[in-house]
Amino acid sequence: MSFVVGLTGGIGSGKSSVADLFSALGVSIVDTDAIAHELTRPGGGAMRAIRDEFGGSVVDADGRLNRPVMRRIAFADASAKNRLEAILHPLILAESEKRCVSAASPYAILVVPLLVETGFLRRMIRRILLVDCEESLQESRVMSRNGLFLDEVRAIMATQASRPDREAVADDVVLNNGNIETLSRQVAELHRKYLDLAHGESDGRVAEGMRRALF
Ligand SMILES: Nc1ncnc2c1ncn2[C@@H]1O[C@H](COP(=O)(O)OP(=O)(O)OP(=O)(O)O)[C@@H](O)[C@H]1O
Ligand SMILES: [Mg+2]
Repeated sequence: MSFVVGLTGGIGSGKSSVADLFSALGVSIVDTDAIAHELTRPGGGAMRAIRDEFGGSVVDADGRLNRPVMRRIAFADASAKNRLEAILHPLILAESEKRCVSAASPYAILVVPLLVETGFLRRMIRRILLVDCEESLQESRVMSRNGLFLDEVRAIMATQASRPDREAVADDVVLNNGNIETLSRQVAELHRKYLDLAHGESDGRVAEGMRRALF
């Protein structure tokens, strides 16, 4: 199992920007949102179980999960969200593990936007890296990127963990209040740290193997 760093942060905090910077340094990025979408596209690994559980109304004509319908069902029936997660989470976990294990770099970055809120991927994560920025910056960045109104962005932020809750679980923090250059410098520094940690760990495994061989 490779050394896995979980990358999290609130909406618009800069997770994708940080992941791109790590990727430019040659680090393998595994994106759990992308995996969730693959599982629920036509022929995706979760679609048969979803159809069996919720019926054909949550499946589009082309075989894709109909997210608006699924959201309405989950809104009306609290157990539906749990039943959907019971299908998706083990599949997301298995696929994330598979991709991290086969990562070509000494460590992998696993992007988990809702790491603090859901937590089911924690057991495969060695360190949590939080991307943090002022809430006013999250608001302005998401408004201009997604063309949303301020109250719409705030409504999404209200469903997410608070900054103190995220800070409480973070091992490392990238502060994204400045420009991309400032971000890039912080990422380069963390990259060195993670290479050291990942190497230290594989040295540790080698040492353990030798100890077992000797005794
Ligand atoms: N330091 C920065 N300076 C200027 N713009 C930035 C900076 N960081 C991020 N942005 C911009 O803000 C927007 C949100 O950033 P990004 O997509 O990286 O965040 P995210 O955490 O991945 O968002 P989401 O939660 O929606 O996936 C993007 O349009 C990005 O280009
Ligand atoms: Mg993103």
